Amino acid sequence: MNFTVAIDGPAAAGKGTISKAVATHFGLAHLDTGLLYRAVGRRTLEGIDPVLASKSLTAKELAQGDLRTAEIAQAASKVAVIPEVRAALVDFQRSFARRDGGAVLDGRDIGTVICPDADVKLFVTASPEVRAERRYLELVGNGADVTRAQVLADVRERDARDMQRSEAPLKPADGAILLDTSDLSIDEALSRAILVVKRELDLKS
Ligand code: DC
Repeated sequence: MNFTVAIDGPAAAGKGTISKAVATHFGLAHLDTGLLYRAVGRRTLEGIDPVLASKSLTAKELAQGDLRTAEIAQAASKVAVIPEVRAALVDFQRSFARRDGGAVLDGRDIGTVICPDADVKLFVTASPEVRAERRYLELVGNGADVTRAQVLADVRERDARDMQRSEAPLKPADGAILLDTSDLSIDEALSRAILVVKRELDLKS
């Protein structure tokens, strides 16, 4: 069975948590596409050309555990504006989406560019302040030395770059269901996402 769930949204809106939990709940494979851009971003910090890095990305680079730093997030957002980098990553994402048994992909352009025909398209969002607070708590919990103001500035800068780029800008796809998690607990947000996915799965089976 082919069944694709596309989950897009800005940084720290909760899409990663929701995507992972939806995939586990329904037994679907999950791809966090941000990791592809982070792995390329990381290589550029080491001095490698981003286009070259995107064309030669390996599974080992994706599996590196330390891709979730603020520095790599900014580098990822910067390489993500380069059309050749995006193009190099398309095939891998599309074949993952078509895998037998179904898949959940989360990112910025899954419903708009990678899988416009996805069975379910969700756009998960929250206010910049709420997202910055969540990211701040996560970073501090991991021992990072940051301030709330820095994290909010970071979130706003990344939002602006991700939304204003000419290639595959972050925006809700046609037909996407909006899920604003600003005033929702994780459990509430997750139940809503599961309900939407279940409805489509039931229709298909
Ligand atoms: O989801 P994330 O925070 O790990 O993503 C890091 C950056 O990668 C994000 O700021 C923009 C880019 N990205 C993208 O352009 N398209 C995607 N599908 C996923 C991420």
